[in-house]
Amino acid sequence: MTVHFIGAGPGAPDLITLRGRDLIARCPVCLYAGSLVPAALLDHCPPGARIVNSAPLTLDEIVAIMVEVHERNGEVARLHSGDLSVWSAMGEQIRRLEALGIPYDITPGVPSFAAAAAAIGTELTLPELGQSLVLTRTPGRASAMPSSESLTAFGATGATLAIHLSIHNLAQVVRDLAPLYGVDCPVAIVWRASWPDQRVVRGTLGTIEEAAVDGPERTAIILVGPVLGSRDFAESSLYAPGYDRRFRPSGADSVFIGKP
Ligand SMILES: C[S@@+](CC[C@H](N)C(=O)[O-])C[C@H]1O[C@@H](n2cnc3c(N)ncnc32)[C@H](O)[C@@H]1O
Repeated sequence: MTVHFIGAGPGAPDLITLRGRDLIARCPVCLYAGSLVPAALLDHCPPGARIVNSAPLTLDEIVAIMVEVHERNGEVARLHSGDLSVWSAMGEQIRRLEALGIPYDITPGVPSFAAAAAAIGTELTLPELGQSLVLTRTPGRASAMPSSESLTAFGATGATLAIHLSIHNLAQVVRDLAPLYGVDCPVAIVWRASWPDQRVVRGTLGTIEEAAVDGPERTAIILVGPVLGSRDFAESSLYAPGYDRRFRPSGADSVFIGKP
C-alpha cells in the first residue's frame, strides 16, 4: 500500500483513531492538509520523516510526491481534517491514483460536525423531533452547488442542518431558513470545535446574527433545527421497559424467545 488517507479529526490531537496514529508513525512521508490538521499529530511521524504541508501545492504537485514515493516502494500518510468522506478533496486524488495504478487505503476520522455536536452537548437526532441530519454548505468561490441542493430545499424538510464552510454567509443562511423553521428555531455555531480556542454561540434564527457578530469568518459549523433547543422530546423505545426486543425479550411470550 502506498498512500494511506487518514482522517485527522476536528482539531484535538487525541481525536484521531489508533489506526490513523499508527499509520502516521510508520510512514516516512507525511502530506498534511494545511492549518486544520493539528501540528501535534505530526509528532507521531517517525524521526527524519519528510513532512509536507499540501496547502500551497497543486493537485499535480501532490500526486507527483505520491508517485515518487511509490516508485521507491515507500508509504505516504495523507492527512485531511475531520473525516475523509466530506469536503476532503480525497475523491480527485483517488481518481488520479487509480489511473496510475497506485494503491491506497482509507482510515476514517472524527468529522467536525460530530465535534460540534459534542461541544454543545446535543444529540442531533431526537425521537419525533428530528430523525435526519443534512451535512451541507452554501456555495463558495471555488464550489458551486448542484441546483437541487439549496438550503431552502433542505430546509423544507425541517431536518437538522449542519452547515459547513458557510460562516461568512450567515446572513444568507438566516434569510433562507427563517421562513421555513421560524425565527424561534434554535441555532448553535461552533468555531474550531475541540481546539483549545473553541467557541460556541447559541441563539435562534432571529438572534444568531447579532450574537455571532464578532465571531471569526472561518472554521465553523452552523447547526440549525428544533433538536438543538429541546428537552421536551419522547424517549426512544430502545430502553423502554415494555419494549420487546431481541436483546431484551419483554416476557415469556416475546417473539424473540429462542431466536439467535
Ligand atoms: C474543507 S472542510 C473539511 C471538513 C472535514 N473533512 C470534516 O470531516 O469535518 C472545512 C470546513 O469544515 C468545518 N470544520 C472543520 N473543522 C472544524 C472544527 N474543528 N470546528 C468547526 N468546524 C470545522 C468548517 O465548516 C470548515 O469550513
